[in-house]
Amino acid sequence: MADQPYLEVKGVSKTYTLKTIFSGSKQVKALQDISFKLGRGEALALVGESGSGKSTCGRAIAGMFDIDEGDILVNGKSITSARNSKEKRENAQKVQMVFQDPFASLNPTHTVRHHLARPLTLHKRVPEGSTLEQELVRTLEDVELEPDVMLDKFPHELSGGQRQRINLARALAVGAELIIADEPTSMLDVSIRRSILNLMNRLKTDRGITFLYITHDLATAHYLTENTAVMYGGRIVEYGPSDAIVRDPQHPYSQLLLSSVPNAHTRINADFEHARDFSKFADRVRTETAASTAGLKEIAAGRFVRAA
Ligand SMILES: Nc1ncnc2c1ncn2[C@@H]1O[C@H](COP(=O)(O)OP(=O)(O)O)[C@@H](O)[C@H]1O
Ligand SMILES: [Mg+2]
Repeated sequence: MADQPYLEVKGVSKTYTLKTIFSGSKQVKALQDISFKLGRGEALALVGESGSGKSTCGRAIAGMFDIDEGDILVNGKSITSARNSKEKRENAQKVQMVFQDPFASLNPTHTVRHHLARPLTLHKRVPEGSTLEQELVRTLEDVELEPDVMLDKFPHELSGGQRQRINLARALAVGAELIIADEPTSMLDVSIRRSILNLMNRLKTDRGITFLYITHDLATAHYLTENTAVMYGGRIVEYGPSDAIVRDPQHPYSQLLLSSVPNAHTRINADFEHARDFSKFADRVRTETAASTAGLKEIAAGRFVRAA
């Protein structure tokens, strides 16, 4: 089917149970009835402050734990019903995560060559008529690094931005079709954040890679993504075209997120601008957002907002 989304998240919920020393156990609803679709070669931003459930959502899609309710379909196939290990392995191969800390997922004792050669060999990603060396070169060129210079370097010899490029290269080497980038630029210098965003944008456009871009930075999400989902308290509070949301956020929580961005050319509601005690106002927005159980309403084509 031509119009089948590449990724479909359907009513997904996940509750963590925390054992506490004094008060028994505590439940954290990390995801509450999350639904969205993402077309092949498109990108969706998941935006929200720390603790809103973004990483849990990303890890659920990567199949890193079992969800409590709902279903996740990759290329039309449910990852939760992948019964045998072959199916699970194929899912795991197509969906790759890139994390915030570009060092954490690289082994300090191995060179760039090893980090890329291993998945290329393991997943039989060297096509007939090509050699491992040619594929290594191609993979590094895909992330705009010079193969001659890079192949024999160790992670500590690379800059943060170069390491994040290697993490993206490794995802490509495995055969990723969907890359879940979990705050991939937040530990990088401001000056190179944009170049990593640009690279992901080119991988999307030129290589047809689908991206779930997790960030707390609502203002930059529209460089890479067609659509944005704003999350708070495990729920999506607003969903729609990224440029529309950044220009004209409708939900008070989206407005709150944008208000922390200097020079965001955004219409903030009057209530907000004139709030004398900003932090009290912000607390009220959070409390009311968390308490609301209203559903998402379509306010314009493709734009959804949860009633406050
Ligand atoms: N492994 C875990 N065990 C228990 N609670 C968790 C775990 N991971 C996340 N949480 C909780 O779930 C909520 C959502 O967390 P997370 O998905 O990491 O949010 P975000 O990525 O938006 O910061 C938070 O309240 C967090 O404390
Ligand atoms: Mg996170």
